Amino acid sequence: MPVFSASPLLDQLEENLFSALEKMAAQIDTSQRPLIDLSSGSPRQPTPAAVVATLQSAAAQPENHDYPSFWGKPTLRQAIARFYQRQYGVELDPDSEIAVFHGSHIGVTGLPRALLAPGQYLISTDPCYPIYRSAAAQAQAKFYGISLHASNQFLPDFTEVPKAVTQHAGLLMLNYPHNPTGAVATPQLFDDALAFVQRLNIPLLHDFAYSAIGRHAQDAPPSLLSQPEAKEWSVEIYTMSKTFLMAGWRFGFAVGNASVISAFKKLHTHSYSTVFGAVQDAAITALDLPESEVAEFAALYHHRRERVIRALEAMRWPVDARQGTFFLWLSVPAGYSSQQFTERLLREAQVLVAPGHGFGAGGEGFVRLSLTASDEALDASLKRIAALKLFS
Ligand SMILES: Cc1ncc(COP(=O)(O)O)c(C=O)c1O
Repeated sequence: MPVFSASPLLDQLEENLFSALEKMAAQIDTSQRPLIDLSSGSPRQPTPAAVVATLQSAAAQPENHDYPSFWGKPTLRQAIARFYQRQYGVELDPDSEIAVFHGSHIGVTGLPRALLAPGQYLISTDPCYPIYRSAAAQAQAKFYGISLHASNQFLPDFTEVPKAVTQHAGLLMLNYPHNPTGAVATPQLFDDALAFVQRLNIPLLHDFAYSAIGRHAQDAPPSLLSQPEAKEWSVEIYTMSKTFLMAGWRFGFAVGNASVISAFKKLHTHSYSTVFGAVQDAAITALDLPESEVAEFAALYHHRRERVIRALEAMRWPVDARQGTFFLWLSVPAGYSSQQFTERLLREAQVLVAPGHGFGAGGEGFVRLSLTASDEALDASLKRIAALKLFS
């Protein structure tokens, strides 16, 4: 059988972090105890019943059996506008300021492709959600990650970006609450980011994947778009995967600056497919759910985080209790790289975490632990890790 060479573009794409972890886990002997996976970012809880019920009835509607529109149903775009108005006090024009797509992965890779010229810089953070680096590569752009440090609450300092990068900057891309560090944006961060993009005359993309999960059970993290002038300079990408427990449904949307939305919509008609009409109807139900349902989910992660933090403190694993998202970003003990420490936990505790270096060189020295596993699985995994007595 002939072996064909792939496009040179593929040489520039790193192996997907989670496929690499899957391979690593497959080599571990789990005959004595099952593997506990604390690496995944999937909420692993059932989607709200009302959303499932809408999908069931909408699947039977003949109008949903034809090709869906690239732009999404007007009723869906109106529901998104209602949601942003209610939740963040932001007014959106459903026709020109909203794009819908099949999961926000498409937004975070497609928007940079729609905006960047070859050779320009996509500026983000280091560490960051790994797909941002491949989004730059897919746009034939360069990636520059602003180093994040615990001493600065993992918030970027834009004055650190060298002139050689700012001169060729095409896009700033942020994500707060931040994956993987759990950092939550301050109003100052958004002010600084807006001043930075205004100075460079470039757009700002904000990936708001962890919109529902802040530091406290009751405080929803702020949307970039609720800052003054933000909608003129930026687009926010939203996913239904986390907030509405709809990871398998593949639905996300982007809102904000009309010229950016219009550029993306053009690319969308060439590169991506559309969203099943019944999923769109279900998304409307989700967006109109009473706030108490989302608050319940945020509270669950808050309690889980508190409980895990207590267990980590008991085994003397240092932890910063101020984190958002459903991840904990934990430093590895002295003498280990993040990969070595991940392998040790896997071999000796059969617990899989995500090594920090997978999120960029700036993630070295950390591992990311996910709170999406059940309370029982989290308790069992922490007991196994404590028994290794790795922290003194
Ligand atoms: C920061 C961030 N952005 C985007 C995504 C993609 O979300 P989805 O494609 O499920 O909408 C994820 C998923 O883990 C994420 O962590």
